[in-house]
Amino acid sequence: MAVLLANWKMNHGPAAANAFVRELNEYRALLNRADEAGLSSWFAPPAISIPYFADLQIQRLVRVGGQNVHWKDSGAFTGELSRAMLSEIGCTFAIVGHSERRHQHGEDDAQVIERALANLVPGFTIVFCVGESSEQRARGETNSVLRNQLTALLNKITPDQARQLIIAYEPVWAIGTGVAAQSADIVAAHGYIGEACGDISLPILYGGSVNAKNVKEILALPTVAGVLVGSASLTVSGWTGMIEAALES
Ligand code: PGA
Repeated sequence: MAVLLANWKMNHGPAAANAFVRELNEYRALLNRADEAGLSSWFAPPAISIPYFADLQIQRLVRVGGQNVHWKDSGAFTGELSRAMLSEIGCTFAIVGHSERRHQHGEDDAQVIERALANLVPGFTIVFCVGESSEQRARGETNSVLRNQLTALLNKITPDQARQLIIAYEPVWAIGTGVAAQSADIVAAHGYIGEACGDISLPILYGGSVNAKNVKEILALPTVAGVLVGSASLTVSGWTGMIEAALES
């Protein structure tokens, strides 16, 4: 079982999302074949574009989710979305703690943990992003950075909540650069994450410049439960190319 998770970030408003979904609909046979092989397509479009995925959701060909989620159900939180709102339009997951939220919007460890903890409930999955910057890596801090990003969350979750949690390792230096982390670096970082998790066994994704050329090698790594994909997820050919590459034997 592996997950291909598209993070569209602030790309594809309603018209573009509608066109994407219509085109992807022509690849239903491929999506079904992927599903049978245990490869599922998850999409996190801008919230305003989520409704265009309704048909594909109903056919269970994709899962759709939010790029972030608040810890409260409703209230005076301008610009935010709650799990209740996301669930109402069929979302079954949300990404939390993406490095762009951490670095561009000042979401610190305490806040992203609050976002995750409040939403680890049955029927809803949190994809919790962690990753070191190039400076932290150069200083040899990768292990401690990953541990710090995870420990406070892992100390607080119950076994039931753990079942709703996926970790995404996204080294900041590999995001949007066109240069994915080397296999050895992914395995090492996933090893640190596994150690930080202790007795809690969680699926771990990799994200950062994943595309049709490197996806097969990355998914073949024993620790990798899936990939989080930004730019290569923005075209149908990019997406189906990745699925085809991943299915190649
Ligand atoms: P990228 O983005 O695939 O464009 O590097 C990945 C991400 O930010 O999740």
